Amino acid sequence: MHRFEGRVALITGAASGIGQATAVRLASEGATIAALDRDETGLATTAELVAATGATLQLVACDIGDEQAVGRAVANVVDAHQRIDTLINLAGILRSCHSHEVTLEEWNEVITVNLTGTFLMTREALPHLLERRGNIVMAASTSALAGHPWMLPYAASKGAILAMTHTLAVEYARRGLRVNAVAPGGITTPMAANVRLPEDADFSLLDRISPVDEFRGPETVAATIAFLASDDAAHVNGEVVRVDGATLA
Ligand SMILES: NC(=O)c1ccc[n+]([C@@H]2O[C@H](COP(=O)([O-])OP(=O)(O)OC[C@H]3O[C@@H](n4cnc5c(N)ncnc54)[C@H](O)[C@@H]3O)[C@@H](O)[C@H]2O)c1
Repeated sequence: MHRFEGRVALITGAASGIGQATAVRLASEGATIAALDRDETGLATTAELVAATGATLQLVACDIGDEQAVGRAVANVVDAHQRIDTLINLAGILRSCHSHEVTLEEWNEVITVNLTGTFLMTREALPHLLERRGNIVMAASTSALAGHPWMLPYAASKGAILAMTHTLAVEYARRGLRVNAVAPGGITTPMAANVRLPEDADFSLLDRISPVDEFRGPETVAATIAFLASDDAAHVNGEVVRVDGATLA
Protein backbone atom coordinates (compact mmCIF):
# COMPACT_ATOMS: atom_id res chain seq x y z
CA MET A 1 0.00 0.00 0.00
CA HIS A 2 1.24 3.49 -0.84
CA ARG A 3 -1.52 5.61 0.64
CA PHE A 4 0.77 8.52 1.58
CA GLU A 5 2.76 8.98 -1.63
CA GLY A 6 3.47 12.70 -2.07
CA ARG A 7 2.15 13.59 1.38
CA VAL A 8 3.87 15.15 4.36
CA ALA A 9 3.10 13.81 7.82
CA LEU A 10 4.16 15.76 10.91
CA ILE A 11 4.34 13.33 13.80
CA THR A 12 4.95 14.41 17.41
CA GLY A 13 6.36 11.97 19.95
CA ALA A 14 8.19 10.37 17.04
CA ALA A 15 11.28 9.40 19.05
CA SER A 16 9.64 6.48 20.85
CA GLY A 17 6.81 4.01 21.09
CA ILE A 18 3.67 4.67 19.07
CA GLY A 19 5.09 7.81 17.44
CA GLN A 20 8.17 5.99 16.20
CA ALA A 21 6.09 3.06 14.94
CA THR A 22 3.76 5.51 13.17
CA ALA A 23 6.68 7.27 11.50
CA VAL A 24 7.93 3.94 10.17
CA ARG A 25 4.45 2.83 9.08
CA LEU A 26 3.64 6.02 7.18
CA ALA A 27 7.15 6.14 5.69
CA SER A 28 6.72 2.58 4.44
CA GLU A 29 3.52 3.77 2.73
CA GLY A 30 5.31 6.58 0.93
CA ALA A 31 4.94 9.59 3.26
CA THR A 32 7.56 12.24 3.78
CA ILE A 33 8.02 12.28 7.54
CA ALA A 34 8.62 15.28 9.79
CA ALA A 35 9.51 13.54 13.06
CA LEU A 36 9.17 15.86 16.05
CA ASP A 37 10.23 15.15 19.62
CA ARG A 38 12.23 16.68 22.46
CA ASP A 39 14.33 13.48 22.70
CA GLU A 40 17.06 13.89 20.10
CA THR A 41 18.66 10.52 20.88
CA GLY A 42 15.39 8.74 20.21
CA LEU A 43 14.91 10.79 17.04
CA ALA A 44 18.25 9.48 15.76
CA THR A 45 16.93 5.92 16.12
CA THR A 46 13.74 6.89 14.30
CA ALA A 47 15.89 8.36 11.52
CA GLU A 48 17.64 5.01 11.04
CA LEU A 49 14.35 3.11 10.97
CA VAL A 50 12.74 5.54 8.53
CA ALA A 51 15.85 5.60 6.33
CA ALA A 52 15.46 1.85 5.87
CA THR A 53 12.11 2.49 4.13
CA GLY A 54 13.70 4.93 1.69
CA ALA A 55 11.36 7.74 2.73
CA THR A 56 12.33 11.40 3.02
CA LEU A 57 12.73 12.44 6.65
CA GLN A 58 13.09 15.68 8.57
CA LEU A 59 14.00 15.60 12.26
CA VAL A 60 12.49 18.36 14.37
CA ALA A 61 13.76 18.81 17.94
CA CYS A 62 11.05 20.61 19.87
CA ASP A 63 9.35 20.75 23.26
CA ILE A 64 5.66 20.96 22.40
CA GLY A 65 4.94 22.80 25.64
CA ASP A 66 7.00 25.77 24.44
CA GLU A 67 4.84 28.08 22.34
CA GLN A 68 7.68 29.78 20.52
CA ALA A 69 9.48 26.52 19.81
CA VAL A 70 6.29 25.03 18.35
CA GLY A 71 5.85 28.05 16.07
CA ARG A 72 9.42 27.68 14.82
CA ALA A 73 9.07 23.91 14.39
CA VAL A 74 5.94 24.09 12.25
CA ALA A 75 7.44 26.92 10.18
CA ASN A 76 10.55 24.79 9.59
CA VAL A 77 8.47 21.89 8.35
CA VAL A 78 6.52 24.12 5.96
CA ASP A 79 9.74 25.77 4.75
CA ALA A 80 11.24 22.36 4.03
CA HIS A 81 8.24 20.76 2.29
CA GLN A 82 5.80 23.62 1.46
CA ARG A 83 2.94 21.62 2.98
CA ILE A 84 1.61 19.54 5.84
CA ASP A 85 -1.04 16.96 4.93
CA THR A 86 -1.35 15.18 8.25
CA LEU A 87 -0.64 16.11 11.86
CA ILE A 88 -0.33 13.18 14.23
CA ASN A 89 -0.28 14.37 17.85
CA LEU A 90 1.35 11.59 19.87
CA ALA A 91 3.79 13.35 22.21
CA GLY A 92 2.69 12.76 25.77
CA ILE A 93 3.72 11.91 29.31
CA LEU A 94 2.18 9.85 32.10
CA ARG A 95 2.59 10.27 35.85
CA SER A 96 0.89 7.91 38.27
CA CYS A 97 0.02 8.13 41.98
CA HIS A 98 -3.05 8.26 44.22
CA SER A 99 -5.33 11.05 43.05
CA HIS A 100 -5.35 12.68 46.51
CA GLU A 101 -1.55 12.94 46.35
CA VAL A 102 -1.21 14.65 42.96
CA THR A 103 0.80 17.84 43.38
CA LEU A 104 -0.01 20.97 41.42
CA GLU A 105 3.41 20.64 39.84
CA GLU A 106 2.64 17.13 38.54
CA TRP A 107 -0.79 18.24 37.35
CA ASN A 108 0.66 21.20 35.46
CA GLU A 109 3.47 19.10 33.98
CA VAL A 110 1.07 16.58 32.44
CA ILE A 111 -1.48 19.16 31.29
CA THR A 112 1.26 21.33 29.74
CA VAL A 113 2.53 18.52 27.53
CA ASN A 114 -0.53 16.41 26.80
CA LEU A 115 -3.13 19.14 26.45
CA THR A 116 -1.48 22.53 25.99
CA GLY A 117 1.27 21.04 23.80
CA THR A 118 -1.29 19.29 21.61
CA PHE A 119 -3.26 22.54 21.37
CA LEU A 120 -0.16 24.51 20.35
CA MET A 121 0.85 21.99 17.70
CA THR A 122 -2.70 21.88 16.36
CA ARG A 123 -3.16 25.65 16.28
CA GLU A 124 0.12 26.23 14.44
CA ALA A 125 -0.47 23.45 11.91
CA LEU A 126 -4.16 24.19 11.24
CA PRO A 127 -3.74 26.87 8.53
CA HIS A 128 -1.42 24.55 6.59
CA LEU A 129 -3.67 21.52 7.06
CA LEU A 130 -6.66 23.52 5.85
CA GLU A 131 -4.77 24.51 2.72
CA ARG A 132 -4.24 20.81 1.97
CA ARG A 133 -7.71 19.65 3.15
CA GLY A 134 -5.68 17.37 5.37
CA ASN A 135 -6.33 15.64 8.66
CA ILE A 136 -5.31 15.30 12.30
CA VAL A 137 -5.04 12.18 14.42
CA MET A 138 -4.98 12.74 18.19
CA ALA A 139 -3.74 10.44 20.94
CA ALA A 140 -6.52 9.94 23.44
CA SER A 141 -6.51 6.89 25.73
CA THR A 142 -8.97 4.43 27.21
CA SER A 143 -8.26 6.32 30.44
CA ALA A 144 -10.57 9.00 29.00
CA LEU A 145 -13.35 6.47 28.43
CA ALA A 146 -13.48 4.21 31.48
CA GLY A 147 -11.94 5.23 34.81
CA HIS A 148 -8.28 4.29 35.02
CA PRO A 149 -7.13 4.61 38.63
CA TRP A 150 -3.97 6.52 39.70
CA MET A 151 -3.72 8.56 36.50
CA LEU A 152 -5.82 11.63 37.29
CA PRO A 153 -3.96 14.40 35.38
CA TYR A 154 -3.28 12.03 32.48
CA ALA A 155 -6.91 10.89 32.20
CA ALA A 156 -8.11 14.50 32.48
CA SER A 157 -5.75 15.55 29.68
CA LYS A 158 -6.96 12.71 27.46
CA GLY A 159 -10.62 13.53 28.14
CA ALA A 160 -9.87 17.04 26.96
CA ILE A 161 -8.22 15.64 23.83
CA LEU A 162 -11.51 13.92 23.00
CA ALA A 163 -13.33 17.23 23.41
CA MET A 164 -10.78 18.91 21.13
CA THR A 165 -11.25 16.17 18.55
CA HIS A 166 -15.01 16.60 18.42
CA THR A 167 -14.84 20.40 18.39
CA LEU A 168 -12.30 20.59 15.57
CA ALA A 169 -14.06 17.92 13.51
CA VAL A 170 -17.32 19.86 13.47
CA GLU A 171 -15.77 23.31 13.12
CA TYR A 172 -13.65 22.47 10.06
CA ALA A 173 -15.53 19.62 8.35
CA ARG A 174 -16.96 21.90 5.66
CA ARG A 175 -13.44 23.09 4.87
CA GLY A 176 -12.32 19.53 4.17
CA LEU A 177 -10.37 18.82 7.35
CA ARG A 178 -10.87 15.57 9.27
CA VAL A 179 -9.96 15.14 12.94
CA ASN A 180 -10.04 11.74 14.65
CA ALA A 181 -8.48 10.13 17.71
CA VAL A 182 -7.13 6.77 18.72
CA ALA A 183 -7.76 5.57 22.26
CA PRO A 184 -5.14 2.92 22.98
CA GLY A 185 -5.31 0.71 26.06
CA GLY A 186 -2.15 -0.76 27.54
CA ILE A 187 0.34 -0.82 24.66
CA THR A 188 3.87 -2.08 25.25
CA THR A 189 5.99 1.06 24.88
CA PRO A 190 8.51 2.83 27.14
CA MET A 191 5.65 4.89 28.58
CA ALA A 192 3.79 1.79 29.73
CA ALA A 193 6.97 0.06 30.91
CA ASN A 194 7.87 3.01 33.14
CA VAL A 195 4.55 3.26 34.97
CA ARG A 196 5.13 3.05 38.73
CA LEU A 197 1.90 2.38 40.60
CA PRO A 198 1.50 3.19 44.30
CA GLU A 199 2.82 0.30 46.43
CA ASP A 200 -0.50 -0.04 48.25
CA ALA A 201 -2.56 0.08 45.03
CA ASP A 202 -5.39 -2.44 44.59
CA PHE A 203 -3.90 -4.24 41.62
CA SER A 204 -7.15 -6.05 40.79
CA LEU A 205 -8.27 -2.70 39.34
CA LEU A 206 -5.70 -3.22 36.59
CA ASP A 207 -8.19 -5.53 34.88
CA ARG A 208 -9.85 -2.32 33.76
CA ILE A 209 -6.74 -1.48 31.75
CA SER A 210 -5.45 -4.86 30.57
CA PRO A 211 -6.50 -6.35 27.23
CA VAL A 212 -8.61 -9.49 27.39
CA ASP A 213 -6.27 -11.45 25.12
CA GLU A 214 -2.68 -10.20 25.21
CA PHE A 215 -0.62 -7.02 25.34
CA ARG A 216 0.45 -5.72 21.94
CA GLY A 217 3.05 -3.35 20.64
CA PRO A 218 2.89 0.13 19.12
CA GLU A 219 2.61 -1.19 15.55
CA THR A 220 -1.02 -2.10 16.18
CA VAL A 221 -1.84 1.54 17.05
CA ALA A 222 0.28 2.80 14.15
CA ALA A 223 -1.81 0.70 11.75
CA THR A 224 -5.02 2.29 13.05
CA ILE A 225 -3.50 5.76 12.84
CA ALA A 226 -2.42 5.05 9.25
CA PHE A 227 -6.01 4.15 8.39
CA LEU A 228 -7.42 7.31 10.01
CA ALA A 229 -4.82 9.52 8.31
CA SER A 230 -5.41 7.95 4.89
CA ASP A 231 -8.10 8.46 2.27
CA ASP A 232 -9.51 5.07 3.31
CA ALA A 233 -11.01 7.04 6.20
CA ALA A 234 -12.28 9.85 3.95
CA HIS A 235 -15.76 9.73 5.54
CA VAL A 236 -14.54 9.16 9.12
CA ASN A 237 -14.51 12.42 11.09
CA GLY A 238 -14.78 13.20 14.79
CA GLU A 239 -14.37 9.52 15.69
CA VAL A 240 -12.52 7.86 18.55
CA VAL A 241 -11.17 4.40 17.80
CA ARG A 242 -10.27 2.21 20.76
CA VAL A 243 -7.16 0.10 20.22
CA ASP A 244 -7.17 -1.97 23.39
CA GLY A 245 -8.02 -5.58 22.51
CA ALA A 246 -11.18 -5.08 24.58
CA THR A 247 -10.85 -4.86 28.36
CA LEU A 248 -12.73 -6.59 31.14
CA ALA A 249 -14.27 -3.31 32.29
N1 LIG B 1 1.46 3.13 25.61
C1 LIG B 1 0.20 3.13 26.01
O1 LIG B 1 -0.24 2.17 26.66
C2 LIG B 1 -0.71 4.28 25.65
C3 LIG B 1 -2.07 4.13 25.94
C4 LIG B 1 -2.94 5.16 25.65
C5 LIG B 1 -2.48 6.31 25.06
N2 LIG B 1 -1.14 6.44 24.79
C6 LIG B 1 -0.72 7.71 24.22
O2 LIG B 1 -0.01 7.51 23.03
C7 LIG B 1 0.99 8.52 22.88
C8 LIG B 1 2.33 7.88 22.67
O3 LIG B 1 2.64 7.10 23.83
P1 LIG B 1 3.81 6.03 23.88
O4 LIG B 1 3.31 4.89 24.67
O5 LIG B 1 4.35 5.82 22.54
O6 LIG B 1 4.83 6.82 24.83
P2 LIG B 1 6.42 6.98 24.76
O7 LIG B 1 6.81 7.47 26.11
O8 LIG B 1 7.03 5.75 24.23
O9 LIG B 1 6.60 8.14 23.68
C9 LIG B 1 6.18 9.45 23.97
C10 LIG B 1 7.09 10.41 23.23
O10 LIG B 1 6.65 11.75 23.50
C11 LIG B 1 7.80 12.54 23.66
N3 LIG B 1 7.50 13.73 24.45
C12 LIG B 1 7.10 13.79 25.73
N4 LIG B 1 6.97 15.06 26.10
C13 LIG B 1 7.29 15.83 25.04
C14 LIG B 1 7.36 17.23 24.82
N5 LIG B 1 7.07 18.11 25.79
N6 LIG B 1 7.72 17.67 23.60
C15 LIG B 1 8.05 16.80 22.61
N7 LIG B 1 8.02 15.46 22.76
C16 LIG B 1 7.65 14.99 23.98
C17 LIG B 1 8.80 11.65 24.39
O11 LIG B 1 10.12 12.13 24.28
C18 LIG B 1 8.56 10.33 23.69
O12 LIG B 1 9.42 10.18 22.58
C19 LIG B 1 0.91 9.37 24.15
O13 LIG B 1 0.15 10.53 23.90
C20 LIG B 1 0.21 8.47 25.13
O14 LIG B 1 -0.47 9.20 26.11
C21 LIG B 1 -0.25 5.45 25.07
